[in-house]
Order: sequence, then C-alpha cells, then structure tokens
Amino acid sequence: MRIDVISLFPEFVEHCAGFGVVGRAHERGLLSVHGWNPRDYATGNYRRVDDRPFGGGPGMVMLIEPLRASLRAARDADARPARVVYMSPQGRPLTQAKVRELAGLERLVLLCGRYEGVDERLIAAEVDEEISIGDYVLSGGELAAAVVVDAVARLLDGVLNDAESAVQDSFESGLLDCPHYTRPVEHEYGAVPAVLLSGNHAEIARWRRMQSLGRTWARRPDLLDVNSLSSKDRKLLDL
Ligand code: ADE
Repeated sequence: MRIDVISLFPEFVEHCAGFGVVGRAHERGLLSVHGWNPRDYATGNYRRVDDRPFGGGPGMVMLIEPLRASLRAARDADARPARVVYMSPQGRPLTQAKVRELAGLERLVLLCGRYEGVDERLIAAEVDEEISIGDYVLSGGELAAAVVVDAVARLLDGVLNDAESAVQDSFESGLLDCPHYTRPVEHEYGAVPAVLLSGNHAEIARWRRMQSLGRTWARRPDLLDVNSLSSKDRKLLDL
C-alpha cells in the first residue's frame, strides 16, 4: 500500500511512520509513506500557502492552488488511483471498520489542513471523504494522519506476527478488549485471575468474553446494541 501525505509538515508523518509496527511495514515493503509540502508548489516571492478568510474572522485559510498542485504531484507519482481523505474535525468519526476499509485500498492520500482550514472549493472538487479522529480540535491534521497511518499499517497482510494478530483487537468484535495479565502470578498489586491459569480454554474464552461485554457495558454503552446480542452473550451479562 502507498500513502501520500499532503502537509506543511510532511516530515512529521514520515517520521512517525519510521517506528514500531509501521516501521516494520515499511521495512517489509508492505507500506510506503510519502510526504508532499504545498509550500513547494506555492508561487510568488513569499510562497504563500494561506490567506485571510472572506467574510472576516480569525485565522487563515489554506489556498486552493498549492494544495491542488501538491495533490496532482502525489497522484501522478503512482499510476494507481488514490482515495483522497481530508483530515478534519468536521469529518465522519474514524472507526475500526473505516480503518479496515482504508487498509483494503492500494493508495491513500491524506490531506492535512492547518490554520482555520482549507478553501471549501478544494475539498468539494478533490476530496473523496473527510475523517475526524475525535471530537476535539488539533492544530493541524498531521497527528490525525499519523493515527490513520498507524491503524491502517497494522492491518496490512504480513505486518503483524501471529502473536500480535489483529483479530482479537478491541473493536474488531465491536467490543472493548478484555484485561490482560503476565508474570508474576502473585504481586502486591494483586493476583492473576485463577481462570487464566486453569488451562481450560473454553472457560478462559468465556471469561474473556464476559470481561469484554462487562467493560463495554460499563464504559462504552454506546457500542453495545443489547437487542442484537446473541442469547449466549445475554446470558453472560445476566440479561
Ligand atoms: N484536524 C484538526 N482536528 C482534527 C481532528 N479532530 N480529526 C482529524 N483532523 C483534525
């Protein structure tokens, strides 16, 4: 997969892509991340990339032309068609299902705004979808783009080892993850739940499922559609 990032700080996302699981995806030739700086495509003595908003108000708006030119350069760098995503708090919330969808693409272009945002006409003409990573405002889309790169990279075939398999991740099942424990069995902070030491795989699976359901119920009831739970899950929750 190839991900192009359009940003005034392209090194930021490229740098983030050099570590851990994303770095490994890179090393294994499964992912490449390329940055494009709109300032390199800006014209005039000052290489302007932004201007004041029509209608007044605070902040600056990113100009169409430097963004259009950098988008074009990114598109032209590879013959395969790319999905263009604008990172913005006005976007649809990022979910694991969306991450999985993006991970199935051959190419992705992530457009990062700064200042008050990007001229809406550029978004209307060039952007396929707008994605938010949460209901808070970052000072730019770069951190959000790095989040997308990380979440997508770990789902690419061959990136995670079997032991790290993404299948058991939180949200893949629509539920929060269960708690995890490792050695020592006894510690001043407490003991490992006995069931995990029992060797009874059916009981362990049952316990983990119950923990996941219970945590989701307590912490993120918005994720739980009680009416669509299986009768087995309803029993575990004592419903
Ligand atoms: N840019 C600024 N804030 C953002 C957010 N919450 N999600 C995605 N991109 C952003």
